[in-house]
Amino acid sequence: MNILAIESSCDDTAASVVRDGRTVLSSCVSSQIEMHTIYGGVVPEIASRKHVEAISGLADRAVSDAGLTKAELDAVAVTYAPGLIGAVLVGVNFAKGAAMALDLPLVPVHHVRGHIAANYITHPDLEPPFVCLCVSGGTTAIVDVRSYTDMSILGGTRDDAAGECFDKVARVLGIGYPGGGPMDKLAQGGDDTKYNLPVARVAGAELDMSFSGLKTASLNLIHNVEQKGETLDLPAFAASFGRAVSDSLVPRVLAAAGMRGYGKVAVAGGVAANSRIRADLQAACAKSGDRLFLPELRWCGDNAAMIGCQGFYELRAGHLAGWDLNAYATRDIGLG
Ligand code: KG4
Repeated sequence: MNILAIESSCDDTAASVVRDGRTVLSSCVSSQIEMHTIYGGVVPEIASRKHVEAISGLADRAVSDAGLTKAELDAVAVTYAPGLIGAVLVGVNFAKGAAMALDLPLVPVHHVRGHIAANYITHPDLEPPFVCLCVSGGTTAIVDVRSYTDMSILGGTRDDAAGECFDKVARVLGIGYPGGGPMDKLAQGGDDTKYNLPVARVAGAELDMSFSGLKTASLNLIHNVEQKGETLDLPAFAASFGRAVSDSLVPRVLAAAGMRGYGKVAVAGGVAANSRIRADLQAACAKSGDRLFLPELRWCGDNAAMIGCQGFYELRAGHLAGWDLNAYATRDIGLG
């Protein structure tokens, strides 16, 4: 079963061909980072236009890189939610056109389900059930993955996503966009106890998180140091910030894993590339006895291979779309 997968939910246009849900035959990504860097964040209208320019050529390249012809494709899978609405619409409409022209089934894939499925590429032996920490620029949630297509949120952020928090703080520091990667590098060797940053708790909802307070406290600290004419110890600040984010995430995913009792923990999304979070998860799982699944770094950020992977399981479950498939800016992961 060869699935052509399309992803365009934010600032990466991506196309891939995946065989039987686990084997990536090709993966093409066209990043728009350079364009959005000028503005310090993603400009939705520009993202949509860039997707339109890139998507057709990228899909052709994904098929030829896979060593296949279009006649050897069995389905078209596409991210239909959540994301920037104009951006998602580009992928959905392209996928509809491709599926109609090639007379193939159209498979709608939830973007966060795709991030979770990135783990299946790295770990051929991973099967549900497991608990997955999904952390990206738009999502921070602990997901109960009961089966390949049956999942629900156990806890999540009440405000900002962890990745968004990394990006906003990095922007104020002027260290690049998106900021998570540069913050991670900067933190190496920094004293993570030098700056005291808050780790929020949501009363009565122990698996929920909040990152807006951390963002505000970080920005205030940076401005205070500037106003006093002092110099911020950048590595120590980045390390202290990384510790605060990790301390918000890791104990909660371990608590969720303990409640569900599957013995398996996975992590997914762009922020899953963070070295502090990966190390803390490894230490915590070694202590709890849960088996930890970390996706390879190249599958953490947005890509279409993960969509092809999840698309296989959606198709197998009979989750197909008609030509009236719409795009959604937000959508519960449980709805598929
Ligand atoms: O999954 P992704 O590529 O896009 C979304 O679906 O949102 O995630 C992008 C996010 C950005 O916020 C970026 O700063 C963050 O992932 N990120 C990281 C790291 N690499 C990327 N955050 C922390 N540490 C990293 N190493």
